[in-house]
Amino acid sequence: MLVVENLRVVYANGAEALKSISLKAERGEIIAIIGRSGAGKSTLLRCINGLQQPTEGEIILDGENITRMNGAQLRRARRHIGFIWQEYNLVERLSAMSNVLTGRLGYASPVSSFFGYFNAQHRAVALQNLERVGLLHRATNRADKLSGGEKQRVAIARAISQEPKILLADEPVASLDPELSVQVMTDLARVAREVGVLTLINIHHVELAQQFADRIIGIAQGKVVFDGAPADLTEGVMDRIYRFNSPVAAQPLAAH
Ligand SMILES: Nc1ncnc2c1ncn2[C@@H]1O[C@H](COP(=O)(O)OP(=O)(O)OP(=O)(O)O)[C@@H](O)[C@H]1O
Ligand SMILES: [Mg+2]
Repeated sequence: MLVVENLRVVYANGAEALKSISLKAERGEIIAIIGRSGAGKSTLLRCINGLQQPTEGEIILDGENITRMNGAQLRRARRHIGFIWQEYNLVERLSAMSNVLTGRLGYASPVSSFFGYFNAQHRAVALQNLERVGLLHRATNRADKLSGGEKQRVAIARAISQEPKILLADEPVASLDPELSVQVMTDLARVAREVGVLTLINIHHVELAQQFADRIIGIAQGKVVFDGAPADLTEGVMDRIYRFNSPVAAQPLAAH
């Protein structure tokens, strides 16, 4: 279970990216986070992943307070947080299989994994997850030889191989064309449901959010302005989420 309480983030330059975000989410939920550019979606995911220290507030994942951890504790916790990036973040010169195996680092013996050795059990998990995303036939292909859609599927298989408590995806299909976006979202949602992992997806496409998520959270100017079912995303709600000028758009012309 995830509990986010009164999360506030002020960046060093004074930008208040999150004002006060509170939400609760249960295992198995697939939640889409929508909002204008600059609303604070990535900042929220980076806080949950421990990459960004909040200014105020708390994040509790399965009883552990992410915001109160020291470096070593945070590194350990992050092994159980899957993250899917817009630009895949694969190790390009390694095979699809080796990339997926890096998702097992939190479970493998540090010495053997340092030498690239993962035992049969870890390899079986990695192969199963490559199969889940339909890429078993690409296991030995180098990551840099894969298409964008295939790369993102490898990233999904890698994240799932972490057996994560939570899966976070920041604009996972923003680099893909519309047809591939649907295919990759289909895979992501199917795999997340199969393993029952709580999944938070930042996504620009509202239709995709409605199609694949159980719940939608709308963020505007660092605050939650909607939290409900896809079917409740009425025009009025959309207006609330999208009507604000983004901070970038609000900058005076003289600043450019
Ligand atoms: N490292 C940073 N330093 C200073 N300000 C930042 C930093 N990262 C983000 N911001 C600012 O914080 C606000 C929220 O940014 P964030 O990236 O979380 O938005 P977003 O909703 O993910 O936007 P997008 O849809 O464009 O990805 C923006 O005003 C942005 O300019
Ligand atoms: Mg973002």
